[in-house]
Amino acid sequence: MHDFHFKHNELYCEDVRVADVAHKVGTPFYLYSYKTIADHFLKIQRAFAPLSPLICYAMKANGNLAVLKSLVGLGAGIDIVSGGELQKALLAKADPTKIVFASVGKTDEEIALALRTGILLFNVESQPELEAINRVAHTLGKRAQVALRINPDVPAPTHEYITTGSLKKKFGIDLRTARHIFKQQAKYPQVAINGIHVHIGSQITSGAPFVGALKKVMRFIGELRSEGMRIEYLDIGGGLGIIYKNEQPQTAAEYAVNVMPILAGSKLKIIMEPGRFIVGNAGIFVTKVLYIKDNGVKKFVIVDGGMNDLIRPTLYDAYHEIVPVKKTTAGKAKVDVVGPICESGDFFAHDRPLAKVGPGDLLAVMSAGAYGYVMSSNYNVRGRCAEVMVKGNRFEVTKKKEEFKDLMKGETVPSFIK
Ligand code: LLP
Repeated sequence: MHDFHFKHNELYCEDVRVADVAHKVGTPFYLYSYKTIADHFLKIQRAFAPLSPLICYAMKANGNLAVLKSLVGLGAGIDIVSGGELQKALLAKADPTKIVFASVGKTDEEIALALRTGILLFNVESQPELEAINRVAHTLGKRAQVALRINPDVPAPTHEYITTGSLKKKFGIDLRTARHIFKQQAKYPQVAINGIHVHIGSQITSGAPFVGALKKVMRFIGELRSEGMRIEYLDIGGGLGIIYKNEQPQTAAEYAVNVMPILAGSKLKIIMEPGRFIVGNAGIFVTKVLYIKDNGVKKFVIVDGGMNDLIRPTLYDAYHEIVPVKKTTAGKAKVDVVGPICESGDFFAHDRPLAKVGPGDLLAVMSAGAYGYVMSSNYNVRGRCAEVMVKGNRFEVTKKKEEFKDLMKGETVPSFIK
């Protein structure tokens, strides 16, 4: 499942001792396993081999250049959500004809950049956006390839903030409007509408929501086709859940078994957008214990990483396993693991039984490879931490820790204040 394991009571990433990385790089930092990333990508590819889908890695989950390069090297396409992500994908030498672009708020500049780049598909999330793409394409003398992102209005049992397939959410286009757009295609001469996209949410552990949504989408595609519309692509999104604690998510193979019969015989070109499944368990966040504080009511393990580095626990009440990088025989105590930030929401765990640790000890926050570094911030004027990649017995910093001067870049005092 992943390549973080204990050997002689020490945590290793592949063949690298995590403590050695900490010694060289300083804490806190993110550590990624190349092998885990590659294995997870190949697992999906193998499971869906009969359909030969285009797997567009959702780089929003982890946009580190080394991660992108690794996946592009394995043949992955990229799912992007901004002009910035597009530029980074191109830096990683992603093939433009394997890039798909979602986002409810694409700007004219982003649309123009994507058109000039020649991406495979815009996953369009509203009629006004389609009009904007048509207008910008006209100005540039280009024709855009478009899939309509359908909102199938199905529930997805996951955190409220990361469900997307209900009409109470901003994402996608309702079926009635989508049908209307298809019928009015002639109004958009610079656009070829030839696909459907659906993504119902993230960290979905069971198969049923995907099956329900896809059946609905396939019925819709059937209706459109019977009305003479041409549908070439179906992008089935991402959303596959992973193990953080004791979840029993469907495997890639089970997902394929659930989904492939629904798509069989449709002659659709299938696109997938997994993010978390590929990188989630392929990364850890390593932080050092600074102080222990016991106020008589609670015991706090205060570490040098904070919610600015990894916001998932406080934003989604997400569980991340925490393990000392060196296993000890010391008994466990119930503690809060907290950071240095000036907020009570700055925590990695509440009331967690943890082996007794002391100042200087290293802790690994597990399953931090997805939506970790990418959601970090400079809150409290803290530089973003380093990111490190391991392959076999080698490791290298792939993103340097931000220095104070990086944080001050572009910030000036106006003349009327000086
Ligand atoms: N495709 C689209 C259109 C998406 O919006 C997303 C994720 C994905 C694919 C990839 O989903 P995945 O396979 O990673 O579940 N920050 C949250 C997750 C936000 C997901 C946003 N969209 C978290 O930390 O849980």
